[in-house]
Amino acid sequence: MPRRDLDQHFEDDRPEWTSRKHAVLSRYIVPGAMKISALDRERRVHLVDGYAGPNEYGGQVMGSTAIMINAAQTAAAQGRRVTVHACEVDTSRFASLQRNLASHLESGLLRVYNKTHAEAVPEIKHAAGNAPAIIFLDPQTAAQMTLEGDLRPRVDSKLKPTERHSLTQN
Ligand SMILES: C[S@@+](CC[C@H](N)C(=O)[O-])C[C@H]1O[C@@H](n2cnc3c(N)ncnc32)[C@H](O)[C@@H]1O
Repeated sequence: MPRRDLDQHFEDDRPEWTSRKHAVLSRYIVPGAMKISALDRERRVHLVDGYAGPNEYGGQVMGSTAIMINAAQTAAAQGRRVTVHACEVDTSRFASLQRNLASHLESGLLRVYNKTHAEAVPEIKHAAGNAPAIIFLDPQTAAQMTLEGDLRPRVDSKLKPTERHSLTQN
């Protein structure tokens, strides 16, 4: 089946599968942020939306970053220190992302990157320091995501050299 045009996808109302994806993310992200932040003495957690999109469907502000922001506000009301990071490589969708979530950019709750998730990883890691993070990677096609750029830096950074060695051997 040919893939739908992605811009058209965001201009239309959400199809069923996108609504279900957002429902799953919404259900997971608050308890996930609460649990993961409990690992940190200062109750920090970073929520990373690696493939953010414009956060607009059918003219309504809606999408994975908006869901993470809602979750961040809920977790913050319960004493958590949450920062949301959103990466979007497409310039026009990035402009929509900025416009749609402008108030959260101004408040500092949200940081955005007009680059690939893989290119943004060093900046996000710098901002997060040793605080824990939840990373949501939602590419349109598997080919947009790379093991080396999107996944390996995080895996490697959490492992001791010996574990890293055995991981690369297998
Ligand atoms: C499936 S859509 C994201 C939908 C969004 N997560 C949501 O639930 O509302 C994928 C988005 O990732 C963007 N994209 C593609 N490759 C990327 C990359 N390597 N890094 C960051 N964004 C990318 C596309 O421009 C597109 O807007």
